[in-house]
Amino acid sequence: MNMNAAFSQFYKRTPEQRLAILAKTLGLSETEQQELQQRADQGDAPLLIENYLTTYQLPEGVAVNFLVNQHEYVVPMVTEEPSVIAAASNGAKQLAQAGGITATVRSRLLTGQVVLSDVRVYASIDDWVALHQNELLEVARQAHPSIVKRGGGPQTIRTRDLGEGFVSIDLTVDVQSAMGANMMNTMLEAIADVIQNKLHHTTLFSILSNAGDQSLATATVSIPVGQLANDFDDAKRVAKRIEQASRIAQLDSMRAVTHNKGIMNGVDAVVLAMGNDWRAIESAAHAFAVTDGQYRGLSQWHLTDNQLTGTLTLPLPIGVVGGATKVLPLVAINQKIAQIKSPEELMMLIVAVGLAQNFAALKALVTSGIQQGHMKMQMRSLAMSVGATAVETPALTQQLMKLSDPNEAQATQLLNQIREKQGE
Ligand code: HMG
Repeated sequence: MNMNAAFSQFYKRTPEQRLAILAKTLGLSETEQQELQQRADQGDAPLLIENYLTTYQLPEGVAVNFLVNQHEYVVPMVTEEPSVIAAASNGAKQLAQAGGITATVRSRLLTGQVVLSDVRVYASIDDWVALHQNELLEVARQAHPSIVKRGGGPQTIRTRDLGEGFVSIDLTVDVQSAMGANMMNTMLEAIADVIQNKLHHTTLFSILSNAGDQSLATATVSIPVGQLANDFDDAKRVAKRIEQASRIAQLDSMRAVTHNKGIMNGVDAVVLAMGNDWRAIESAAHAFAVTDGQYRGLSQWHLTDNQLTGTLTLPLPIGVVGGATKVLPLVAINQKIAQIKSPEELMMLIVAVGLAQNFAALKALVTSGIQQGHMKMQMRSLAMSVGATAVETPALTQQLMKLSDPNEAQATQLLNQIREKQGE
C-alpha cells in the first residue's frame, strides 16, 4: 500500500476524517480511536496547529513558598515529571527562610538578523549600514508602528562579519510586553527590501534570533550555612558539597548537561504554563551555557563566611501578551495565579524558580541522594491514600520506607497498628 497517497490533502480534512484515515491505514483499534476522540478540543486548539487530531494533555500544578524580591508567589508549572514541583516548593521554602531570592532583569530587547551572502568587501556593507542606520531604523518603525506607539520599537542596527562572505545585519527591538517574533520578522523583511533595492545586494534570509542574550534575568540568594542542617558541622559539610557539585558543573560538560537539565525542569514548566515558546528558551539557555566555548553549569554556588551564595543568569526572551498567551485559555488564569504584571516580573520569577529547583536538586544529590526523596514522596502519598491524617502520616511514611515495595494493604495494616498503639 502506498501510505502517502492516503494522506494526500490531509490538511483539508476534519479531525474526524483524519482519525478515520489514520485508523484505516495504521490499524488503530476502537479503543485507541475513542481515546484520541475523547481528548479532541472543540475550541481553538484545532486552529493553532496543522493536521489537528487531538489534544495531548500535560498535568499542571503549582509550586508554593516562593519569596522573590520580598513578594510571595504561587507558581503554575506544567510538567509530566514527578518530584519537580515538590522540589521547586522545597527549594523555595528553604530559600525563603534565608530571606528570599533577589532577582533582576538586565535588559529586555529582542535581536534579529538580515543575513547577506557573497559579500566581497565587508567594510562596504558596514559603511553603508552605518551611513543609513537612521533610515533603516525608520523603515523598521514604519513596518510596525503600533509597537512605537506603545513606547517600544527598533533601537540599534549594526553589522557583523561572519566570514566566508556572510554578513549579518543585526537589529535590536524593544518589544515591550510581547515575545515579539512576528513584529521582529516584519521589521527585518522591510529592512531586507531596502538592502535589496538600494544597496542592490541580495539577502539570504531575515529572521529573529532566539539567542536572548539581550534579555537576561539573574536570581541570587544567600543562605546562612547553619540553616542547612541541625548540627553546624553537618550544615557546613552540606554547603561545601553543594559548592563542589556546582564547581563540577563548571569543569565537566557531561555533568553540566544534567545540572542544567535540573534547572530547566522548573524553567520549562513555568514557561509552558505561561504560554511561551519553551524550545526558544531551551536553545537560548544552552547557547548561553557555552558562551566561553565550553558547556558549563548555568548556576554557581559559593561558600564564603558561612554563607552559601547561589546565582543563576538566564536568557529569558518571554512575553505576557500576544502569540499563544492569547489563544491558550489557561494562560490568563496562570498569569493571575502568579500575579504577573509585566514581562520583567515573569522573567524574574522564572529565573528564581530555576535557582530554587537547582538548589533542591543539588542538596538532595549531596545529602540523601535523589532516590530517597522520591521514595519518601511516594510513601507519603501511599500513607495519605489509605487515610492517614497529618499527624499519622510522618510515622506511617517512616515505616513504609523500611519495606521494599509496600502496597495499599500493607499501608492500611500499618496504619491500623499505629492507631491501636495510640489508643492504648
Ligand atoms: P522531603 O525531604 O520529603 O521534604 O523532600 P520535606 O518533607 O522536608 O518537605 C519540604 C517541602 O517540600 C514541603 O514543605 C513542600 O513544600 C515540599 P511543607 O509544605 O511540608 O512545609 N514537598 C512537597 N510538595 C508537594 N508534594 C509533595 C511534597 N513533599 C515535599 N509530595 C523532595 C522530598 C523530593 C522534595 C526533596 O528530596 C527534593 O527536593 N529532591 C529533589 C528532587 C528533584 O530535583 N527532582 C527533579 C527530578 S530529578 C532531575 O531530573 C534533576 C537532577 O538530575 C538535577 C541534577 O542532577 O542537578 C537531580
